[in-house]
Amino acid sequence: MSTIEVKVPALGDFKDVPVIDVLVKPGDAVSKDDALVTLESEKATMDVPSPAAGTIKALRVKVGDRVSEGSVVVTLDAGEAGAAKPAAAKAAPQAPAAAKQAPSPASAGKRDGAAAATAPAAERPPKRPAPVAAPSGGVRLEVKVPAIGDFKDVPVIEVLVKAGDTVEQDDPLVTLESEKATMDVPAPAAGTVRELEVKAGDRVSEGSLVLVLETAGAPAPVAAREPAREEPAPIAPAAAPAPRAPAAGPPAPAPAPAGRPAPAVEEEGRVAVPHGSPSVRKLARELGVDLARVEPSGPRGRILHEDVQRYVKEVMSAAATGAPGIGLDVAPWPKVDFAKYGPVETRPLSRIKKISRKNLARNWVMIPHVTQHDEADITELEKFRVALNAEHAKEGVKVTLLAFLVKACVAALRRFPDFNASLDGDALVLKQYFHIGFAADTPGGLVVPVVKDADRKGVLELARELAELAQKARDGKLQLAEMQGGTFSISSLGGIGGTAFTPIINAPEVAILGVSRSVTRPVWDGAQFAPRLMLPLSLSYDHRVVDGAAAARFTSYLAALLADMRRAML
Ligand code: COA
Repeated sequence: MSTIEVKVPALGDFKDVPVIDVLVKPGDAVSKDDALVTLESEKATMDVPSPAAGTIKALRVKVGDRVSEGSVVVTLDAGEAGAAKPAAAKAAPQAPAAAKQAPSPASAGKRDGAAAATAPAAERPPKRPAPVAAPSGGVRLEVKVPAIGDFKDVPVIEVLVKAGDTVEQDDPLVTLESEKATMDVPAPAAGTVRELEVKAGDRVSEGSLVLVLETAGAPAPVAAREPAREEPAPIAPAAAPAPRAPAAGPPAPAPAPAGRPAPAVEEEGRVAVPHGSPSVRKLARELGVDLARVEPSGPRGRILHEDVQRYVKEVMSAAATGAPGIGLDVAPWPKVDFAKYGPVETRPLSRIKKISRKNLARNWVMIPHVTQHDEADITELEKFRVALNAEHAKEGVKVTLLAFLVKACVAALRRFPDFNASLDGDALVLKQYFHIGFAADTPGGLVVPVVKDADRKGVLELARELAELAQKARDGKLQLAEMQGGTFSISSLGGIGGTAFTPIINAPEVAILGVSRSVTRPVWDGAQFAPRLMLPLSLSYDHRVVDGAAAARFTSYLAALLADMRRAML
């Protein structure tokens, strides 16, 4: 029994490659060539195989770590088989002669180091694609499998383009997969695919013709560096190739790494990463697809581009049709010929309604709303408001209840900061500013102007600003900036009527205060019924952020403030 430090094998100047999967854990028994960790660069995914049979002693990397040639990934207690061949492990980090060669001049281009690793310049002087004039005036470029070390007869697992497709330089054209690595053959230049020479399932080796590309001109970087040679069968530029497989792999093809099934399965808390080529992973990242959910159809459980596309289609159509489990399980919207039952007039929705309906529907569906109802005794406040208006009548400022509501809400938000916040994933963003939105009814529909820094303004200033913003809203003159940045909203229907309602939260805020019409009614004061002016409050809150108890405390405090605004000074 000997302990082997298993290192990342020669990867050329392939550096800082992320570990995307750790396939073993301490105590696991592994056979020689079993995959231990998976690395993924921009253009290739590859496994680091075990150099010997044995038991995993310790993990030295975790998912997300970046490794380079020689980084230790695990320590292994090699069993009989492994002990007999310690040289294999020691040999792992040794770069083969070809990989240690300086990258070919063409490989020093924009592509990553992986490309350089594939250019065994000493063995194989870099051949350039010799541009051949195409009948259309473009240049025909034969794209061949680049230098892939001693990879031979590697299966094409996916052909990503078809004749007539236009591609950009570096776009993946086909995906090859050996026992231990998946690699894309990228386009050496932008152009149009003219003839496809391979299909999925074909086996290729270095120099195999993949396709013919018609480009507008010779690939600029190559042409600039070296004049085209007269070669009848040009190979794709050395800079373009995909990377080689890990050099530590045994020269003879190893058994497939235990055919890791996809979709991923949970194994004792570890999620196995499903296999897909770098371009498949890129596509999945762009579309926000979790590859673990995608059913693979490629060889040995590999996820292909079409699998990702099919998954997205399924999700989209399930959402549209309301299939259970994904999206909303609701009946389709009823399509009724209303004119069958009587005369109708069809009027298009206003621009504001077209925008707001989507936001309202999203907020209603995505936020678990609860509405807490309460009422505030505003008898004294109303007297004060009337007196204030009398005092300031000449200044043309009319103080409505709304200005006091803004003031009281700011005080309540200071005391209960979770209501002045937004959810951001698993975190709550607590805002230290108080920008209060208020719903304004306009001929075009509902808009929500925002009073910025309401905490720094007095009631008279607030009243003036509220009136100005409301007027601008009605005139359709609000600027976008005047409707942005809100931290909490008020929807007052008090001037119109009603006793209570359920306002919809204005995401990404977490609460909104609905205010209904105040009414004078007899209230028991402990000794007798007294006429009091009572204001109904309806606070809708996001139950993911706010608990019912907190909401009740918030509205109780708000009601106490409105009953006696002196409390705001406490
Ligand atoms: N109870 C009793 N009366 C109230 C009141 C309340 N809660 N709130 C306002 N009033 C009174 C005002 O004092 C005023 O009375 P007056 O004319 O005798 O002075 C009258 O109602 C009209 O007030 P209003 O002009 O609406 O001013 P405001 O500051 O209260 O409200 C807006 C301004 C912009 C909020 C309001 O005009 C508005 O558009 N409200 C509708 C909001 C809405 O549509 N929300 C629903 C969203 S789903």
